[in-house]
Amino acid sequence: MPISAPRPALIDRFGRRITYLRLSITDRCDFRCNYCMAETMQFLPRHRILSLEECLRVARIFVDLGVSKIRITGGEPLVRKNALWLLERLSTLPGLKELVLTTNGSQLERYALPLRQAGVRRINISLDSLDPARFRAMTRVGDLARVLGGIEAALRAGFDAIKLNTVMMRGVNDSELESLTQFAVNRGIDIAFIEEMPLGAVDHRRGDTYFSSDAALARLRHRFDLVPSTKNTGGPARYWRVAHSPTQVGFISPHSHNFCADCNRVRVTCQGELFPCLGQDERVDLMAPLRRHPDDDVPLRQAIAAAMGIKPEGHDFDLAQPRPKIVRFMSMTGG
Ligand code: 5AD
Ligand code: SF4
Repeated sequence: MPISAPRPALIDRFGRRITYLRLSITDRCDFRCNYCMAETMQFLPRHRILSLEECLRVARIFVDLGVSKIRITGGEPLVRKNALWLLERLSTLPGLKELVLTTNGSQLERYALPLRQAGVRRINISLDSLDPARFRAMTRVGDLARVLGGIEAALRAGFDAIKLNTVMMRGVNDSELESLTQFAVNRGIDIAFIEEMPLGAVDHRRGDTYFSSDAALARLRHRFDLVPSTKNTGGPARYWRVAHSPTQVGFISPHSHNFCADCNRVRVTCQGELFPCLGQDERVDLMAPLRRHPDDDVPLRQAIAAAMGIKPEGHDFDLAQPRPKIVRFMSMTGG
């Protein structure tokens, strides 16, 4: 007799096993990054957003179905009231091995230590520029000094790992690749450079600002001794280690290196839409089964299983198109 039944697994039509959930807990953000949002955004009314209890219920079921890693995202997750309540509960879910958070850093001076105490072990902090004026221009409203203070607070809080995320934009912040990398090296933390993805209609043409991972790597190799790294987060980033330093430099390349074959993730938006692919429009609604069946998880589990049948083979981002094919913004689906 087996001691315990194996946990059911989420496996899609292409044999990919889903072990990673990215859960967005708000579409709101205190920044308006120009690659992520339009200048004026309509945010969702409260009743259309999953309650934190509903978020917890969704997460618990995913973990029961074999998910071992959850990333909490937004918008900016720390603008959601009581986000810590959710994180504290998620961190004690049996079967969940990794609980991580993506943040813009604006509230970290206040939240870094409570987050660590709530059981968050790793965080990603967005940092696109070290120049206050450029930082303001890219985020439209952000205050660089606060984010830098937040990063220092995160360092003091003792996370297992901190990673900076930088979206690269030609002619905007591409002159800072080296200084951003040096900033990470000086602090012994990681940094990942991201190719901008065409999600939502923004003010610029994405093709105009495209900066490839290969170009970034070539530039950085002039300044840093980069050794290929075996680090694999199960994600789309390829990593290099800076010699004689703990810092790893990653490149996330949705355009130049398609990574869909190894995809292990799905996303749930704050309105309870399950998106099996960031770059496609297929989705399954979880809100209806959540609210119609508060005491019965079966319909919810069925809806999640159904998403496995529609997970696309890959995205087909096309920078040559004048309008993005995917009209929802990154802040909707979660970064
Ligand atoms: N392309 C690439 N990255 C993006 N992000 C937001 N919008 C985009 C986009 N269109 C990034 C943010 C952050 C993470 C959550 O997603 O900079 O690092
Ligand atoms: Fe907010 Fe992140 Fe989007 Fe910037 S990229 S507007 S910080 S959600």
